[in-house]
This record gives sequence, C-alpha cells and structure tokens, in this order.
Amino acid sequence: MGQRNALFLISVVLLLTVGGCRKARGRQEAGKPADVNGTRIAAADSEPGNWMVHGRTYSEQRFSPLKQINDQNVSQLKLAWSYDLDTHRGQEATPLVVDGVMYFTSAWSKVFALDAGTGAVLWSYDPKVPREWGINACCDVVNRGVAAWNGKIYFGTLDGRLIALDAATGKPFWETLTIDRNSRYSITGAPRVVKGKVIIGNGGGEFGVRGYVSAYDCETGKLVWRFYTVPGDPSKPFESPILAQAARSWSGEWWKSGGGGTVWDAVVYDPELDLLYVGTGNGGPWTQKYRSPKGGDNLFTCSIIALRPDTGEYVWHYQEDATDDWDYDSAEQIILADISIESQPRKVLLQAPKNGFFYVIDRSNGTLISAKPFTYINWATGVDMKTGRPLESALARYTGNDPAPVVPGPLGAHSWQPMSYSPLTGLVYIPVNDVGFKYKSAENFEPKKLAANYGIDVVAAGMPQDPKIRKAILDTVKGKLVAWDPLQQKAAWVVERPGPWNGGTLSTAGNLVFEGTAAGNFEAYRAGTGEELWSFAAQTGVIAGPVTYAINGEQYVAVLAGWGGVFPLATGEVSFKSGRVRNISRMLVFKIDGTAALPALPVLQEPTLTPLKNRASVGTIRKGEQLFQRYCAACHGDVAVSGGVLPDLRYSSALENDEWFSDVLGGMLQSDGMVSFAKELSREDAADIRAYVIFRRNQSVTQRQSSAAKN
Ligand code: HEC
Repeated sequence: MGQRNALFLISVVLLLTVGGCRKARGRQEAGKPADVNGTRIAAADSEPGNWMVHGRTYSEQRFSPLKQINDQNVSQLKLAWSYDLDTHRGQEATPLVVDGVMYFTSAWSKVFALDAGTGAVLWSYDPKVPREWGINACCDVVNRGVAAWNGKIYFGTLDGRLIALDAATGKPFWETLTIDRNSRYSITGAPRVVKGKVIIGNGGGEFGVRGYVSAYDCETGKLVWRFYTVPGDPSKPFESPILAQAARSWSGEWWKSGGGGTVWDAVVYDPELDLLYVGTGNGGPWTQKYRSPKGGDNLFTCSIIALRPDTGEYVWHYQEDATDDWDYDSAEQIILADISIESQPRKVLLQAPKNGFFYVIDRSNGTLISAKPFTYINWATGVDMKTGRPLESALARYTGNDPAPVVPGPLGAHSWQPMSYSPLTGLVYIPVNDVGFKYKSAENFEPKKLAANYGIDVVAAGMPQDPKIRKAILDTVKGKLVAWDPLQQKAAWVVERPGPWNGGTLSTAGNLVFEGTAAGNFEAYRAGTGEELWSFAAQTGVIAGPVTYAINGEQYVAVLAGWGGVFPLATGEVSFKSGRVRNISRMLVFKIDGTAALPALPVLQEPTLTPLKNRASVGTIRKGEQLFQRYCAACHGDVAVSGGVLPDLRYSSALENDEWFSDVLGGMLQSDGMVSFAKELSREDAADIRAYVIFRRNQSVTQRQSSAAKN
C-alpha cells in the first residue's frame, strides 16, 4: 500500500464523520417529486426558486433572477450544509433543484437526491459502472448531471446506458443501452428532455467512435430517432440524405477510424423555433491525415447542428473548424439569447468553443453574425465573415519536422465548464484556459484498443526536462475569468488566475458572478465590474457549474466540488499552475449567515522521493517513454507527473517489486479503475515502462536536489 492510499483514506474518514443519517426536513411538498414538463420549463422565470433544467432555462444562460443574495450582502454568505461523496474522481455535475429536492450525479455516474434545504439524503442510486470502462473515458470518469421530467430523473452512465429513475424513490423505471459496447463510447454529458423525449449523445472521439445523438421516449425508453453526425461506410445506405452530402467532405476509409464528431456536451432547445441545437466534437483521430488523408471538411465534426426535435431531421449546420487537426471540439455549451444588434432584435446563439473564437450566430438559419478571439490564440488570425471559415496561420497545420507550438491546445481556450450570460449586464462570463500544445503527427500511427489514439507524436508533445524550457512553457500557462461583451466582441473585464481549469460560472440578478477555482476556492464577483466580493476555501479544486435556488423564501447557492477532469489527469506539471489541490468530492451549499463548517483539512505530507537503481539502457527507457505516453499518460500524467487525482507512479511502491506487473498486466486494481493491459502490452513492455518511470523518479530527485541547492 504505502503512499498509494494515503490520499483516499482521508476522503473515507470524512465520509464516515459527515455521512450519518439525517431526517428529511423542511422539504416543500408540491405534488409529485420532479414534476417538470415543457410548460413549466418554458415559464421557468416565474419560479426562480427552482433550477429545473441543466442551464436553468431552455436557453441555458445560467442566469438566475434571484437577488436576495447580492453584491451588498454576499460577504455574509456562509456554508449552510455540505454532503461528502464516496469517490475521489472529478465532479462536473450541475445539480437540479425541483420543489425543494436537489438531484445530481457524481463521478462513476451515481445519482443523489438530497433535501435541498438540509442536505439530508432522500435516496441515491449507483448504476454500478464496470470500473474497467474507465479506459474508454478520455477525460476522467465524470458525469455532468441529470434531467427531470414528469416524475422521473434521467441520466447517462459512463458505459453508455440511459436510465430513468422514479424521482420519488430512486428506483429504476427503465434502462436502455445507447451504444455498441464493442466501440469505446462513453457518456459524460447531461441528458436534456424535449417534448417527452430524452436527448442523449456520447463521447469517444479519441477512441475510434462515430458520433451521434439519440432521442428516447421518456415513458418507454424506446429509441425515437438517431442522428449520426458523421457519415458511415459509404458501401451501406446512409442513414439520412444529408449524410450522403457530408460523405463528399471525407476521403480515404474514414469510417474505419470512426470519424469522431461526438455530441458529448451541448444540447439546447429553442421552443419558439422548435429547433434542437447540438455541438459536435473533434475529428478522430486528431490528426487529419490519419482520418481523411486527402483532406476535406469532414462534416459534421466541430460543428453546431440544428435538428427538428420530433424527428431528428437536419435543418442547418455551421462548422467552426473545417478539417480539424487539433482536437478543437465545438461540443461546448451553447447559450440562446435574444439581443439587439444594430437596433435589430436577433435570435442568436452564443458559443465559446475550444478554438478560442467567440461566435455569435443567428440561430434561425445558422448565419454567422460575428466571431472574435476571446483570448490569445495563434492558430488563426480571424474568421472569414463570407465563408465562416477560420483564417489559419502558417503554424496551424504543423507540417514541419519540429513540433508546432499551437495555442490553444487540446484543453481548449474554453472547455465544458459552463459559461453564463447575464441579460442585465449583457456580458458572458467565460472560464478561459490559456494553454498551448506542441503538435507533431505521429509516425506510422495505428489505433489501439487500450491506448489514447490521437495520431499525435505523444513523446514530442511531452514536457521537456531542460529547466529553462520548462519554465518558459509553464510561464505561458494561465487562466482567467473573462466577462465578454458579445455585441462589441471584447472583454469588459478580466480576472487573471494563476492557472487554467477553473470552474463554470453562474450569474444572478444580485449583480453577482460565482465561480469555483483550480486553486481550491469558491468565489463571487460583482457582475458589472469584476470586483472580488467573497471567497470560500473549498479545500479542493472546483470545476463544476454553480446553481442558485430558494427554499421557503430563502436563497441558496450550491456547487459540486471535486478536482478532476482531463487537466489534472493528463497534463502533468502544467496542472500545478494554481497550486496543488487534492480531490475532496462534496456538495457545498451556502446561504446568508449559514452555520455549517467543513471538517479541518488534514495536512498532506509530500512524500519524499528516493532514487532507485535503474540498469535499463537508454534504448529501453526511450521505448518505455513511448509506451508510457501512449498508454498511461492520459491518466497518470504527462511524462509521469500526476496532477494529484490518480497515483503518481514515480512514488509507487510497485516500482520496486512484481506488484508492478500484477497492477499493469494482472488487473489487480481493476475494481479501482486500473484496467489490465495484458491484451496489448507484454511483460517486456511493462518492464520498459517501469524503467522509464524509475528514470523519471530519479530525474525528479536530482532536479529537486539541484533546485534546493540553489535556494
Ligand atoms: C484510464 C485511466 C488509467 C490509465 C490509462 C492507466 N491507469 Fe494506472 N491506474 C488508474 C487508476 C484509476 C488506478 C488506481 C487508483 C486507486 O488506487 O484508486 C491506477 C493505478 C495504477 C498503479 C498502482 C499505483 C500505486 O500507487 O501503486 C500502477 C502501477 C499503474 N496504475 C500503472 C499504470 C501503467 C503502467 C499504465 C499504462 C500502461 C496505466 N497505469 C494506465 C488509471 C489508469
């Protein structure tokens, strides 16, 4: 055991002390639980005490009319209650609150119903996701939330099921498999319910899947329609006429690598236009030459698509990045707003996707109104207003021999962390990431079942060990909270943060913006000016989107805390930019003059690293590095530096004995989410990876000694 479980023991102890059994109190009894329907959602502003759908209203602005908590009294905001979760993985869910009950998901797709006033558990449901399915999740075993409709709670599971629970009891009502289990699909996004149909997409663009979005009947769980976002094998009939057209934008045998274009997050509905908008993800693999060797736009990857919600029929699309080469998803949240542009009322949709441009699009027909970079980017100089296509810079296509330092990288200038739009300030509050990436095509790329299949040279992308270069790279990595004016297409104010991967935002009529941070705080800012008004030490990184609601006339603010997601898993040293935070997964709920407190945070001793003997040759270490970056880095961190959520292998006691092989090949830790790699890696491969990790351990010891000597 040794270091391995030190972190996780802490969360178990917290659970025992806080879990307890509390009785349901103060719950508002208003008909059956989760009694949500289209009429009620359309009139959501008439009951601002509830948060009935993912982005509060159909428009997903994440703006609340509540203002009892406001810029005058937010300094009195204190913890009302908290609820500890039994996982130590990333928490990305936005809770729903309906008539006094809070519903949300945690990592590993578990569902909780709590009394929103007290935190008392009403029920919980564990779909028992097989832990080995974790290998098919690019970006942690997260889940972004539930949908409520007509007395039921709907959610997707990491292993591709869609489940309807009875909102009163948490008992399953129906369950259906939405994926082919022979492909590496996963569900992390929240379903949305539109006109009695549950809409759900999936992820897996890195792993050779073909994207689609499906609609299931709320009552029966039967599939109503499915829209594939990229064409399949052209020797078979296309599922829809538009896919025959889309197929002309592909080359080679794209269907063999799936193509990507997954609908893994944004699904929004406009009841007036009766259109459903979905955002699609990157092309798979990332590098276009391994996906569609003769180029082509690769429709409908990196696009916004408008569909008819009754039939799934295509209406229009707008592609943000033709011929994606960078993992630039357009799956990020879409906000619907009615704003006046040059004195004309316009129905727009707003999106700040990974590629760094803020798009204002006419949502009735998909016409681009404007697009400007919302942070520093170097892959493109602008968007051509005639064609809607990006004006790429010379380095974007990384055709040279050296890796090209492209900004943004795969993390995206903005990812899934929800932004919010305040109709009062007219500003969009965006959690921005400033992180580049060194892109170079892999040589002789071949997809594997148990590896990350980017098509990228993953060794060239790794953090170099020259201290000067390292420092130069780390200095460029930043984060910020940007208040973006979508009319002027410029920032109204900016809060600089030490690092990226800060939380989603909530804006309120109390002139407030709430955001959690990668440094482990939950904060409130004046919405008009960006002045910091309140901060709470959350003890863990907070990445999810906050919500606000009211019980018996009293306003609450809630956020699911718990560091994780792709950033601390995959990016190594970069993920320490905001400091070292650990994962403590917990629902945090605040009100004015709340009286709860968090248990004291146990001090974490940084374990000391001692060098280990390494007789491996340079060639062996190189081979191990290749394998590590391809098979292990997505979870254990770039160049074997873990961001603190999953074990840092440099510290593993398994390096010193044969436990290494039981862990890596024997499936000993399968039930914790560490799959056996025996199907693809030999004992020699595993030994080579170990030699590389030991090499990195010894290198880290030397680096620490030399930096200590300097100080
Ligand atoms: C999909 C994510 C994922 C990938 C990819 C992955 N691991 Fe793991 N690994 C885990 C998880 C989860 C654990 C267990 C964490 C826990 O104890 O809760 C783990 C634990 C381990 C441990 C035990 C750590 C200790 O502290 O002793 C070793 C050794 C290990 N992994 C090696 C590897 C190697 C080598 C690779 C690449 C061949 C790899 N892992 C790839 C998720 C992953």
